[in-house]
Amino acid sequence: MNRSPFLTVIVPTYNEKENMGLLLPALAGPLRQDGIPFEVLVMDDSSPDGTGGEVRRLSKDIPEVRAIVRTKDRGLSPSVIDGFCEAKGDVLLVMDADLSHPVEAVPKLYRAIVDGGSDVAVGSRHAKGGCIEDWPFMRKFISWGASLMARPLTSCSDPMSGFFAVRRSVVEGAPLRAKGYKILLEVLVKGNYSKVSEVPITFRDRAKGESKLGSKVIINYLQHLVMLYLHPGSAPPIKFLFVGGTGFLLDLGLLTLLLGLVGDSTTEYIVFQSISFAAAASWNFIWNRYWTFNASKGRALRQYIRFFIVAVFAFAVRWLLARYIGVEVLGIDSQPYYQIMTVGVIVVVTVINFLGSKLWAFKTDPGQPR
Ligand code: GDD
Ligand code: MN
Repeated sequence: MNRSPFLTVIVPTYNEKENMGLLLPALAGPLRQDGIPFEVLVMDDSSPDGTGGEVRRLSKDIPEVRAIVRTKDRGLSPSVIDGFCEAKGDVLLVMDADLSHPVEAVPKLYRAIVDGGSDVAVGSRHAKGGCIEDWPFMRKFISWGASLMARPLTSCSDPMSGFFAVRRSVVEGAPLRAKGYKILLEVLVKGNYSKVSEVPITFRDRAKGESKLGSKVIINYLQHLVMLYLHPGSAPPIKFLFVGGTGFLLDLGLLTLLLGLVGDSTTEYIVFQSISFAAAASWNFIWNRYWTFNASKGRALRQYIRFFIVAVFAFAVRWLLARYIGVEVLGIDSQPYYQIMTVGVIVVVTVINFLGSKLWAFKTDPGQPR
């Protein structure tokens, strides 16, 4: 039999001395029992309470544990990212030091990847069967609002979780930035993966020590969100709408300009409309290729031809629905019905354009990370 994949548990710490003696034995016991080969990296930011020394002391009995004392760039996310670089494991798991995350779920997260074929496994408080104990209403409310703002970035139910495991390849080479406390969200937006699974967990408030995450967290989170929304390939529907809006303005502006400069007979109108349409489609293509779908690895010419076919097809549908069926057949030409119909047609056409782009024009080849 092949040996089981190696697990690295990464535990970021700042002043967690009191928790080390509880966490580390609780973690090591079950992993040894299950025969999972592992190491634990305690990523400590030179905690003044002596967490590092305590870990070294405990590692005499638990040799799998190593304290890595950091002296620069203090913070939760940078510590975890350093942990990713330092790790020997095939599976990398991140958890808090304060016993908020149940150690029993560690083998489950590992198994979800090794046996379940997931690339990312999230210890989720919001999956069926998961929950949060002892949190005041306000903290739950803030957490809920924060998750809501991240909704378009990921389909994971708990992207705020600090408890997750990834296959090494998910983070290796990913352009992770240490901004923000939400390292999982960063991984979900920028990592290379296809399958995500969730393991329900009960999150307990820390028993010892105090939370390090104060009021700066909210501002930091909002800045982090802006960066993540701007990142190529994140939240495609939102980027697609935005790009489509700029393309629409370009189309309209160019058409108006040409008609004003040259004239507006029927032939001219058709020619100019075609020119401005092609210009807007090309503009949209470039932005959607690099930014909306982050598809610059695919073959450009093929993508362009397909994107254009979809755009022309959608244009034909627009014309057919509005002019032909709407006006000629149904006779809709008065307010507010004409306006209502126009809005409906725009929605239909946008959906066609989006799906055609996503599922056909910019579809990534199988095997290629998204
Ligand atoms: N190395 C390092 N440096 N570790 C840190 C730092 C730091 O500057 N700040 C906090 N940590 C460690 C803590 O020692 C703890 O192990 C973990 O990061 C979480 O910090 P807490 O202070 O316990 O924060 P929390 O309970 O408010 O936040 C937790 O819950 C969030 C979900 O609501 C964390 O798990 C977050 O990651 C999680 O998103
Ligand atoms: Mn905590």
